[in-house]
Amino acid sequence: MKYRVLFVCLGNICRSPAAEIVFHAAVERAGLQDRVMADSCGTASYHTGEKPDRRMLAALERAGYAWGGHRARTFSRRDFEQFDLIIPQDEANRRDILALASRPEQKAKVHPMSDWFAAGETEREVPDPYYGGPAGFDAVVQLLERAMESLVQEMKQQVQD
Ligand code: 4NP
Repeated sequence: MKYRVLFVCLGNICRSPAAEIVFHAAVERAGLQDRVMADSCGTASYHTGEKPDRRMLAALERAGYAWGGHRARTFSRRDFEQFDLIIPQDEANRRDILALASRPEQKAKVHPMSDWFAAGETEREVPDPYYGGPAGFDAVVQLLERAMESLVQEMKQQVQD
């Protein structure tokens, strides 16, 4: 059984699909693709069924990543059972997910993306780039790239134990 990681943001069209793509690439570089899988979703349903935002796809392409075909979906309580680790991108996403958890084991699976930020990082969460320009999308991709290195190191230990 693979270790299952779920990235969560608000709309599932910007940050969490980017997190899934950047994580997947880091997992492949680490040779863990048979041991770890990832998915992403949003806390809100406005964009369900949509492709990632074209501005995020452009930023990902500038950084050398390709979209794998993900379509936006909304978080469901079933995800607490289907995933081992649930990673909200910002504090509002974290609160919204925790509000849906009914048991301590479910809450224990929820850890903010910022848990994998390096000590020198100035951001405290993955900022929402939706209402800003292209630089904000590039900054999100770069922040995620830095964080995923530590997350994948942790996955390595997790699946070897
Ligand atoms: P995401 O970005 O949560 O990173 O996918 C957003 C997507 C849509 C909206 C806000 C943020 N929106 O307001 O529709």
